[in-house]
Amino acid sequence: MPGQTARIMTFKPRTPLPATAFTLPAEYYTSADVFRKEQDRFFHRMWMCVGRLEDLPSTGSYLTCDVAGASLVVLRATDDGQVRAFHNVCRHRGTRLCAEATGRLAGGIRCPYHAWTYDFDGALIGAPHMDGSPGFRREDFPLGRVRAATWEGFVFVSLAGEGPTLVEHLADVATRFAAWDMRTLVRAHRVTYDLTANWKLVVQNYNECLHCPTLHPALNGLSHYLSGENEPLHPTWMGGRMDLSDGVQTMSMDGRSPLAPLPSLPDDERRRVYYYSVFPNFLVAPHPDFVLVHTLWPSAPDRTRVVCDWLVRPEARDLGVDLDGITGFWDLTNRQDWRVCELAQAGIASAGYRPGPYSSREDLLYAFDRFVVATLED
Ligand code: FES
Ligand SMILES: [Fe+2]
Repeated sequence: MPGQTARIMTFKPRTPLPATAFTLPAEYYTSADVFRKEQDRFFHRMWMCVGRLEDLPSTGSYLTCDVAGASLVVLRATDDGQVRAFHNVCRHRGTRLCAEATGRLAGGIRCPYHAWTYDFDGALIGAPHMDGSPGFRREDFPLGRVRAATWEGFVFVSLAGEGPTLVEHLADVATRFAAWDMRTLVRAHRVTYDLTANWKLVVQNYNECLHCPTLHPALNGLSHYLSGENEPLHPTWMGGRMDLSDGVQTMSMDGRSPLAPLPSLPDDERRRVYYYSVFPNFLVAPHPDFVLVHTLWPSAPDRTRVVCDWLVRPEARDLGVDLDGITGFWDLTNRQDWRVCELAQAGIASAGYRPGPYSSREDLLYAFDRFVVATLED
């Protein structure tokens, strides 16, 4: 969508904060019409993180996902690791092709209904009983192709037929965290949460630390809420960092880490934690010794599934290093955050809600709101 591309690449938030910096009207969090538009403008047109390459360990391995109402199958198509994505919809009579969350296909994608079969390029290579059907040509019925790309071991898809590449979409984020060498990391733990809250409340909460002293006293003891810095909102991402307090090794229950710092990190990066949101669904938090990732999966104005992964060096997982202090800390913090996101959703959906004024320290949230409005109005 060239118009959308232009808007993404040129949007500039207004700074400094104007006197009229108020939160958004309720409809942005409650309206089915707004949500449908968001599905199109954000979740279909932009790049969505759907998993890790380790989820596709060998040729024919696949995962399925639902990107804003579009069921997709994402598979490792070649021995050299190329990933392809297709609509998970048979071209015969529309049957869902792959019903499992993950699996491995032997040589092709075979429909469970009448056995139409597609190769890993999506070409229809078998169509039983179609011989003699007037005008039928197999080449006219390939699977619907969806763009797929990988970055640092993460697999992304975009339902937009054209537009920025994944690297263009990631922009500065594509290179900023090279020292973490995230492609070498593996998933040590995953927790999935189902929230009764709009996805934007999760993004806003993630990029705001004024709530830390109230909501996360343990976190605030490890990393003071005013220690960090935010960057201005960029067209496809926003983020900032917080510094670890003296003597703290990482974000964990006791501030200590069972892990060594990631090997290529310079000394100053061993004292920081970053929190970056790449729109619309990828939240990445590089720590000195591991990387925390959240992906967001909205299904309704007030429903969001959040998948949280802890990524570590493979030797830590293989050696069975005890990660409970790290996973427990972020699980606790996640649940504290989700609770206020759900309370915010409940309040905004209530008749008494009126947009409220942002603090000057919430300038990033206001910029995000303006970006949302601009994208929806495009
Ligand atoms: S619906 Fe897929 S083969 Fe008939
Ligand atoms: Fe929080």
